[in-house]
Amino acid sequence: MIGNALTSDLALAADPAVLAQRLGIVPDPWQLDVLRSTDTRLCLCCSRQAGKSTISAVLALHAALYEPGSVTLIAAPSQRQSVEMFRTITRYYRALGRPVAAESENTQSLALENGSRIVSLPGDERTTRGYASVRLLIIDEAARVPDEFLAAVRPMLAVSGGRLVALSTPWGQRGWFHQAATSKRGWRVMRVPASECPRISAEFLAEELESMGEWNFKQEYGCEFVSASGSYFDPADIAALSSKAVQPLFGGQS
Ligand SMILES: Nc1ncnc2c1ncn2[C@@H]1O[C@H](COP(=O)(O)OP(=O)(O)OP(=O)(O)O)[C@@H](O)[C@H]1O
Ligand SMILES: [Mg+2]
Repeated sequence: MIGNALTSDLALAADPAVLAQRLGIVPDPWQLDVLRSTDTRLCLCCSRQAGKSTISAVLALHAALYEPGSVTLIAAPSQRQSVEMFRTITRYYRALGRPVAAESENTQSLALENGSRIVSLPGDERTTRGYASVRLLIIDEAARVPDEFLAAVRPMLAVSGGRLVALSTPWGQRGWFHQAATSKRGWRVMRVPASECPRISAEFLAEELESMGEWNFKQEYGCEFVSASGSYFDPADIAALSSKAVQPLFGGQS
């Protein structure tokens, strides 16, 4: 039902931070900045576990509830990953007591009676074309989302003047996310290393550095785009090869 106590609350409608508060989330300073920013291109270059997916999920839910008729798309390198954020959004939606009733709800999309929709996209750009008037496009694990995917989805924001929020830990000096995070124009960039996250202890970080080595640590926790200087292949490219869904010739199921 449109117009219940939650949806007619002006403070909630005007400020996504109030929505976070209702969900029991006390945003870190940078998360508060995300919730209140109006930048049309926002690049969150963050440590692992900093809270970037959580805060983007709040943004998505706020747009759906308070911008009637809006379309919000959640993208990631794979549908499994975009569904993960979608699940967080629907969990928050239920926790609030479904302030706007759902017209339809399944594991990948939520359509509300106010005409808004939230859709979790598959990672394949060939099947993601065709959404119009997108108000908010959130790309999670953006450093691993190929340039072709961005090229396919960006036009969906053209007519609506919609917003693009890209969030990721760095993954090598390549691709559109690296460009966005290091660009001086077009994007508002927020960098959040693990040292600025109150939930990640110095002891844990020391352990991680020890076990994963400096190259991985700088990217995973330090927000640094590291290239493999002095070596012919970039370790991230090698990792990308082994992460492709190619069955090994021998010893198939592992
Ligand atoms: N402001 C906050 N207060 C308390 N807990 C938080 C806050 N923000 C995030 N968290 C919690 O921190 C954990 C990591 O959050 P989240 O999954 O959003 O991080 P992430 O940056 O997307 O991590 P990853 O890089 O692993 O995807 C989750 O358990 C989440 O509930
Ligand atoms: Mg995440």
